[in-house]
Amino acid sequence: MSTLAGRHIVLGVSGGIAAYKSVELCRRLVEAGAHVAPVMTPDARRFIGEVTLSALASEPVHTSLWDDDEPIPHTVLGQRADLVVVAPATARVIAAYAAGLSSDLLVATLLATRAPVLVCPAMHTEMWEHPSTRDNLATLRRRGVHVLEPESGRLAGGDVGTGRLADPGRIAAEIERILSPGDLDGTRVVVTAGGTREPIDAVRVVTNRSSGRQGHALAEEAVARGAKVTLVTTAALPAPATAEVVRVETAAQMLAAVRAAMRDADVLVMAAAVADVRPADAAGGKLHKDPSTGRIAALDALRMEPTVDVLADAATSRRPGQVLVGFAAETPGDASTLADLARAKLARKGVDLVVANDVSRADAGFEVATNEVVIVSAGGATHVARRDKRAIAAAVWDSVSAVRRGADPHQTRPDPDGGAR
Ligand code: CTP
Repeated sequence: MSTLAGRHIVLGVSGGIAAYKSVELCRRLVEAGAHVAPVMTPDARRFIGEVTLSALASEPVHTSLWDDDEPIPHTVLGQRADLVVVAPATARVIAAYAAGLSSDLLVATLLATRAPVLVCPAMHTEMWEHPSTRDNLATLRRRGVHVLEPESGRLAGGDVGTGRLADPGRIAAEIERILSPGDLDGTRVVVTAGGTREPIDAVRVVTNRSSGRQGHALAEEAVARGAKVTLVTTAALPAPATAEVVRVETAAQMLAAVRAAMRDADVLVMAAAVADVRPADAAGGKLHKDPSTGRIAALDALRMEPTVDVLADAATSRRPGQVLVGFAAETPGDASTLADLARAKLARKGVDLVVANDVSRADAGFEVATNEVVIVSAGGATHVARRDKRAIAAAVWDSVSAVRRGADPHQTRPDPDGGAR
């Protein structure tokens, strides 16, 4: 039986030429056994007839906050939904949803639901590429909204470019994927993110170039797959709404937060760039220059002391079944040495996986939106070619899921001893 059988799906249709494809999507969902409640914006009604959707859906189309059989239709629709899909989603609906402007029944329903939401944009290429559309979609993604990107092809008016609504079959498959139980359902994971800041005095710190973006993307992906996430972060970046967020600054604070969170966690992913050393005698106030020499004597004599290795600490006290993942920011000469460095770190740290990246490149690693990594386990290595950090996160969680099932991600047969370590 289909995952969709008996599921309540709100099908939101906004005013674009691709609105006609929502009819086909509606038919597919109903055929798969879903209960489909269609909602049209006023503009959508200019493109397709209400009668068409009402005839194919499981209930008559909803179009207005004011003229519905229900007195407060958006809350009833939002609360009953197992999923809300918007196909097509215009630039206006995406903007209103991101801004929280409940200007019509569809956006009000999106704001009134706690169910997963899938947004399927369709618009002209110029609108799709406009910075406001990009920013609005990035905001929605950070809040856990699923986005099925438009395809490239022929658009209204004969233009060719990106912006064509994804095929209804792909949209239906994506809905099915979202409603299927996630591979991390119920798994308790701890993700760390960002570079730690170690005080020298009241104003100066020793830190590194980690932005925290890869760690936050790992937390977002884990939430999307059903995990219960604790995100220990130094980064002032948005976090998924359902994650427990612990904001920290120093390696010592990160150690305390990770120790506490690992008491009942199944997985630790240490994406944070933790300082290996910190100033030994941080001054309470501000250190001043000697006006005659222009030097700060205490900085000239700065002594550093080692911090505790958070990951190694977790490895020492790990409980059976806990999976530990380290990151390695390296500057190797070529891809094979990156894997070699990662393998050495895997053994040294006593962890299940090491995700290594080459931070000497401009388009991967620190401070950029994309990454390229090698994921190393005892059984081998996988090269994940350059892609956005959320997609890298997906590859990391695929490997973690394999380890949790008792399989090495680089061996086809499960570990004969069974179970994760
Ligand atoms: N790490 C940690 N605590 C530290 C230092 C590092 O938990 N005090 C973790 C990082 O979060 C990362 C992994 O250890 O997941 C590897 O960090 P990295 O700095 O690359 O390795 P080190 O063991 O510090 O070795 P080196 O810096 O010499 O490469």
